[in-house]
Amino acid sequence: MRNILFTVSEMSQRKPEERARSLNFHLNDYDPTVVARNAIILEVAGTINPDISEDIDFLWNIWYNMALSESHYARLQQIISAFVDKNSFDDRDHSCLRFQDSDVLEECRDIWKDWRGLDLDLKSVKEDRNKLIEERRRELGFNIDTQCLLVRSQMMMGIIDEVDSILSPTPSNSFYTEIKHWFIEGSTSDESDKANPTLIRPFIHKWKQHYGACAFESYLPFEKQELLRCGSITAACKERLKLLVKRYQQYKKSHSAALKVTLWTGDALCLCTSGFHPGQTFDIIDTSNVSDHIGLLNVLVCCSPRLKKYVDSSIRLHFVCLFVFPIKRGLKIATVNHCDLCHI
Ligand SMILES: C[S@@+](CC[C@H](N)C(=O)[O-])C[C@H]1O[C@@H](n2cnc3c(N)ncnc32)[C@H](O)[C@@H]1O
Repeated sequence: MRNILFTVSEMSQRKPEERARSLNFHLNDYDPTVVARNAIILEVAGTINPDISEDIDFLWNIWYNMALSESHYARLQQIISAFVDKNSFDDRDHSCLRFQDSDVLEECRDIWKDWRGLDLDLKSVKEDRNKLIEERRRELGFNIDTQCLLVRSQMMMGIIDEVDSILSPTPSNSFYTEIKHWFIEGSTSDESDKANPTLIRPFIHKWKQHYGACAFESYLPFEKQELLRCGSITAACKERLKLLVKRYQQYKKSHSAALKVTLWTGDALCLCTSGFHPGQTFDIIDTSNVSDHIGLLNVLVCCSPRLKKYVDSSIRLHFVCLFVFPIKRGLKIATVNHCDLCHI
């Protein structure tokens, strides 16, 4: 989702004659819960007022935080209800959202229905989360302190002195304690009213978010001055989010018919081999860390025919655990250009 906001907002900064005439995103996950949640996040990103800090807080909190305030919970419930009651997503409304077909929309609607009014006890959701983390600690050696150090090492831009107090992993360093707070609480705030339904696995009502997920990671790194000016990592992330949303909305407003985001469920490789219509090709294919699950070669073999045949088209691959897991976890990103593929 953040990649969509980023791409559209970058496009809005180009001179009008250099902007793409249309932007068509196709988002896939074989987990329909991710798809149903992404629809909500995109709707909120497209409709809030980014100049109102309460609106950016709302987007941030429903996107990342386990705990919500009463008012954000109520606001989220209104959006979920509107989605449940909406008959179709098409050109008649001003939404850029589309669904693969009516079955996928129905699948999402069932999930939204389940989240509508879902009001789990926050304490038991926290216990659920702690249990999951403890299981991963035993099975995989997952360790919160190591994870905090990893996020800390990604936090700063450029070469900085390891002894710089901004990086010290001590209780007196507010940036470090903020990272630790995230991993222990599953929220960037201290809210304690309601559990965020969109982070709950529908129908079974369990916490199943990835144990190593971190709200800050896709906004890092920061300049030291930026962090100091904002005062906290969360504030620095929200400042970036605000800019992304503002620019995203600028493009959306001026190119309303040209921006489409289509949501697909099912296996990504089947989608590439037989889901899309035969002529459908892409400028960029971002595979997330799917290759961690099903192998790099499978991903390349299935995605490559869907890449447009020009030099700059590319496949972006993310690896969370390739080779180094579980000794040293870390996110690696690689880009394969169309012209490189013939060498593989
Ligand atoms: C690192 S997560 C990215 C999360 C997601 N893009 C989001 O915005 O929250 C990787 C995602 O890949 C999905 N996934 C794994 N294997 C897949 C496959 N073969 N086809 C489709 N999705 C897959 C998982 O369900 C998981 O949500």
